[in-house]
Amino acid sequence: MFGSRLPQKPAGAVSAVVTGAGSGIGRAFALEIARRGGAVLCSDIDETSAQATADEITASGGRAWATACDVSKLSAVQKLATQAESLLPEPVDLVINNAGIGVGGTPVGETPITDWKWTLGINLWGVIHGCHVFAPLLKKQGYGGIINVASTASYSAAPLMGPYNVSKAGALALSETLAAELAGTGVHVTALCPTLVKTNINANGRIVGKSSKLFDRLMDRFGMAPENVVRMTLDAHQRGDLYVMPQFDARMIWRTKRLFPRTYALGTGMINRFAAARLQ
Ligand SMILES: NC(=O)c1ccc[n+]([C@@H]2O[C@H](COP(=O)([O-])OP(=O)(O)OC[C@H]3O[C@@H](n4cnc5c(N)ncnc54)[C@H](O)[C@@H]3O)[C@@H](O)[C@H]2O)c1
Repeated sequence: MFGSRLPQKPAGAVSAVVTGAGSGIGRAFALEIARRGGAVLCSDIDETSAQATADEITASGGRAWATACDVSKLSAVQKLATQAESLLPEPVDLVINNAGIGVGGTPVGETPITDWKWTLGINLWGVIHGCHVFAPLLKKQGYGGIINVASTASYSAAPLMGPYNVSKAGALALSETLAAELAGTGVHVTALCPTLVKTNINANGRIVGKSSKLFDRLMDRFGMAPENVVRMTLDAHQRGDLYVMPQFDARMIWRTKRLFPRTYALGTGMINRFAAARLQ
């Protein structure tokens, strides 16, 4: 059971809601929570993929349900909370705001405004909606947790990723704010900030031009398996950690930027000149 250091319901495993559970990190979260004995409501904008994850869990003896939910819509997330109440055997005590998309490959000024709105609508507003709807329920209950899937992009400021960086910076700031607001309530917040994870994010998103091919090559070479990422994250959440940076490069970027901000900014500028010459 999760949360040995955290106030928990008297008995039983977690009752979780996972957004974007049809693929990648969300699917891995749902499978791992079920493997640890939890009950999971798998939600995704693509209901078929959410159902496939739920079926995989039930086929191996776990407890799971599936529903469609577009996290960019507040009404859909409110409906998700109502469905969680009726479908899960016990009140929700773990919410994983994971659904997201990848956008990149163009600089600020050339990135279409529609891409900005699409990215912020899902990656930032999706997390805002999840926190807005579920945080009060968990706070009233007096136990539970929220895991927001942010990214190393929350703080790395890598060039040609404007909308994604802004969306993930917001998700991290929201997680930090919520962690402070919920301190002492029995509800714990964790922000997951990975670098590359082997998922379908490139195929499902809008990473354009040469950046898309480079992303695939880097993902193949350096991407971490989502199963490892979620295991580390659930363990860290159990320990009460706010930040989870599963890979060495995620931790190095975090430290370098804080210790040497000027050098870091010079470095990202150099990367941009390299990127402008080779990727556009
Ligand atoms: N893969 C990486 O390298 C990486 C790195 C850092 C952070 N992340 C973050 O991890 C999260 C999961 O992405 P992933 O890598 O597993 O990608 P993925 O494409 O494999 O999975 C994302 C899932 O989210 C769903 N989704 C998309 N829009 C949605 C919406 N509006 N409402 C509900 N569901 C929606 C998709 O249908 C898909 O099933 C995202 O927030 C992403 O930004 C990924």
